[in-house]
Amino acid sequence: MTAPADLAPLLSDEPALLDWLATMRRDHPVWRDRWGIWHVFGHADVQTVLRDTTTYSSELNRAYDGAPPARGMITHIDPPEHRMLRLVVSAAFTPRTVAELEPRIRVLVRDLLDRAGQRFDLVDALAYPLPVTVIADLLGLPAGDHPRFRAWAEMLFSLSIDDPTDPAVATKMAEVVQPMTDYLDQRVRERRAEPREDLISALVTASVDGRALDDEEATNFSLALLLAGHITTTVLLGNIVRTLDEHPHHWAAMTRDPGLVPAVVEEVLRYRPPFTQLQRITTTPVELGGVTIPAGAMVACWLVSANRDPRAHTEPDVFDPGRGVRGAAQLSFGHGIHFCLGAPLARLEARVTLEEILARGQRMEVEYDETAADGGLLPFEQIVLGTRRLPVRVVPMGI
Ligand code: HEM
Repeated sequence: MTAPADLAPLLSDEPALLDWLATMRRDHPVWRDRWGIWHVFGHADVQTVLRDTTTYSSELNRAYDGAPPARGMITHIDPPEHRMLRLVVSAAFTPRTVAELEPRIRVLVRDLLDRAGQRFDLVDALAYPLPVTVIADLLGLPAGDHPRFRAWAEMLFSLSIDDPTDPAVATKMAEVVQPMTDYLDQRVRERRAEPREDLISALVTASVDGRALDDEEATNFSLALLLAGHITTTVLLGNIVRTLDEHPHHWAAMTRDPGLVPAVVEEVLRYRPPFTQLQRITTTPVELGGVTIPAGAMVACWLVSANRDPRAHTEPDVFDPGRGVRGAAQLSFGHGIHFCLGAPLARLEARVTLEEILARGQRMEVEYDETAADGGLLPFEQIVLGTRRLPVRVVPMGI
């Protein structure tokens, strides 16, 4: 048995990270780090934590100061309140409602590809503008404000967190989030005064079991949708192109049979999940993986490790769209009652993007900067597995 390294490698060093995770899965499947955070690495254990909302709470504030969660921030709220919030917007994200967005998404992708040319940064030209336009349109936010959303989201995902249990982390987060909250609060007030055909209006006018959302809840819920709705999908689109660059024969296979596209998207989600971990707080002492986690402990569920667990997937380090992973088997959209509300939308945006590249008889090649240690891709170091830049060149299929 190998002694665990004191801390996880940075996400930007993917090979080191995957090595470390494989060791931890095998030797220390549930492990307490120097900050007192309990890390969970196995597929079955991660599912257990995410399913049991009574023992493992999403109200992360409990770890800091015991303060109640931000009202309306759906990802951080437990049952029974969670159900009400989820019902308020569920109708906007059913597979059928989302499918109706397909023609608009296709037009957007075509337009972005037309404008991008032959060599470009995929993140700037497509992977960022596509999802932000889709979610901002849904919420009813003007296109001119998109650059602000990007600046805010990048600040949040680039926060350097040394000790995640330090109460200063919550303060830092609150500072970064404040301008977004102020901006959305303004939009919520406008919609309350004059509702339109958009999601923010739906949030301020909806009621479930006779209860409606107040301004603070509607603002925080809009913030959750805006943040969850774009940067993750940006990262997924980049991860798709990067992974296909490493396994280029799948471009040709998809050209022959575009029906393979959804399986490729699903396998990239498993192989390189945008969110690497989800956190929970224990409400009571609990036994997991042969150890006892005390009450009030922060638990980090490693999705990227669960997705590479050989007990759940044969040869998990092989990128193989043919393995037919679907639904609960890959945990990249979470599991249980907080399962990603936007999963059908993210899958649709990814599928349409690939279909449109293929329809042009093209594929993409990543242009690494050989002089830079990170290949010039600026990978995120914490929270998300993906890159801030992805220089590509468009290549006709067959070359
Ligand atoms: C590839 C893209 C995406 C990934 C990898 C992703 C991942 C996730 C994950 C892992 C969760 C579970 C959080 C938890 O259990 O604590 C989640 C929840 C959520 N996601 Fe996504 N997401 C993506 C795209 C989207 C999009 C496009 C939207 C909205 C338009 C969205 C909206 C949400 C919401 C509202 C929740 C909270 C659901 C709840 O708490 O009940 N996500 N997402």
